[in-house]
Amino acid sequence: MAAAFPSGFLWGAATASFQIEGATREDGRGESIWDRFAATPGKILTGETGDPASDSYHRYPEDIALMGQLGLNAYRFSIAWPRIVPDGDGAVNPKGLDYYDRVVDALLAANIRPFVTLYHWDLPQALQDRGGWAGRATIDAYLGYVEVTVKRLGDRVKDWMTHNEPWCISILSHEIGEHAPGLKDTKIALQAAHNVLLSHGLAVPIIRQNSPGAQVGIVLNLTPSYPATDAEADRRAAHMYHAKFNLWFIDPISGKGYPQDAWQDYGPNAPDIAPGDMATMAVPIDFLGVNYYSRAICHDESAPGGAIIHRRNPVNMMARGWEIWPQALVDLLTWIHRDYAFPALMITENGATYDDVVWEGQVHDLARIDYIKQHLKALPGLIEAGVPLKGYFCWSLLDNFEWAMGTRDRFGLIYTDFGTQQRIVKDSGRWFSRVTRANAVVD
Ligand code: FCB
Repeated sequence: MAAAFPSGFLWGAATASFQIEGATREDGRGESIWDRFAATPGKILTGETGDPASDSYHRYPEDIALMGQLGLNAYRFSIAWPRIVPDGDGAVNPKGLDYYDRVVDALLAANIRPFVTLYHWDLPQALQDRGGWAGRATIDAYLGYVEVTVKRLGDRVKDWMTHNEPWCISILSHEIGEHAPGLKDTKIALQAAHNVLLSHGLAVPIIRQNSPGAQVGIVLNLTPSYPATDAEADRRAAHMYHAKFNLWFIDPISGKGYPQDAWQDYGPNAPDIAPGDMATMAVPIDFLGVNYYSRAICHDESAPGGAIIHRRNPVNMMARGWEIWPQALVDLLTWIHRDYAFPALMITENGATYDDVVWEGQVHDLARIDYIKQHLKALPGLIEAGVPLKGYFCWSLLDNFEWAMGTRDRFGLIYTDFGTQQRIVKDSGRWFSRVTRANAVVD
C-alpha cells in the first residue's frame, strides 16, 4: 500500500539564487561575497564561478514549465540581495525587483506557491568589506533590503523564510572557511551567528507588516548526532556536537537561549550579547524549515582537549560521501515535535547527489529515487502521530552551482547540461511527478 499524505500537503523543489541564476553582472546586480570567493583561485573545486550556473535568470519560464511537469504545487527559491540593493544598503535597483516580480507572477500563473528565502548566502560584497555579519551594520542593511523586497512582493508571496541555514552562514563560512567569505575565526563566526539570529528576530515583524496574512519562518540545517560507541566519552562528544550544531540555533529562536555547556566550551569565543537580543530572536514564527541530508557519528579522541571527531559511516553513501540514514530524519522530526512548539514544520531541503550520466537522452538515477523514497516513506506515520509536517521540498529542482564543489555535485530532479543549458528530466523527476500527483509515495 502506498503511504498517503494529507490533502493540501505541499510538494515542492528548492533552489537558491546564486546557485541557479547566473547573469551575475546583468541588470545592475552588485557583487556578492560568492562572486568574490568563487573568483579566488582554489576556493571552488572545479574553478567555476556563478556564471552561468544554470542560467535560470534567463530561463525561468522554461524552469517553471518543468515544475508544472513535475506536478509541484510549491517552489522554494531565494532572492539575490545584490540584485535588489547592489551595495548592500542605499540605492535600490528597480530592475532587480522587476525580475522577481516576473518570477512570482509566472509561478502564480502556473498555480505554484512561491516560498521565498530572503537570505541564501549571497551577501553584497560591499557589506563584507565593512565587516559582514560580524557587525551590527549588516543587520540594519538586511532589514532595509527585507522591507523593500517584501513591500514589493508581499501582496502575492505569502510564505517567507528569513534565512537559510545560519550554521552554514556562520560556522562553515567564518570558522571552517569552506564557504564565502572564507574566514577561519571562531569568535567572528559566533558573533556572525548571533547577528544572523538577531536579524531574523527583527525581520519577522517587518515581513508581517508588509505581507498581510504571511506565514513566516526560518530554515535550519539540523544534523542528528549519534555516538560512535557506547563509551561515555563518545556519548559526550555526540552531545556536544548536537549542542553546537543544532541547539545553538534552534534554542535561541525558541526562547531557550544558548545551550550552556556549549557556551562554556566556547569560552572567550562566545558572542557578545546586548540587552534584549535573546528576546528579539525568540519572536514567534509560523513554521520551521528543516533541511536534512545525513547524520553525524561522533567520537572523542580522548587526547588532551578531547577533540570531537565527526565522521560519516563509510558505507551506504551518496556521491559526496554523506551517509544515507533515513531514520535520523524520523528521530529529528520526533525530537523537534517533542521539545519545541513550532506551529508547523516543513522539510525545506532533502535530496542526494550522484554522478549522473546521460544515456541516450535519459538519466536513470535510480539511487536518487531510492534515497527520496526511503525518506518520504516515514513521513505519513509521523504526521499521523501528530507531527505538524506540512510540506516536502526536494533539493534540488535542477543541477546547479553546488557552492565549493562547483557543478561537480548534481542534486537535481532535472539534469542540466552546463555546456548547452539543456534540461533533461531525470527518472527521479518523472517518479517524483507521480508522487506529487498521487499525494503518496509510489513505487
Ligand atoms: C544545503 C544548502 C543548499 C545546497 C544543499 C546541498 O546546505 O542550503 O544550497 O547546497 O546543501
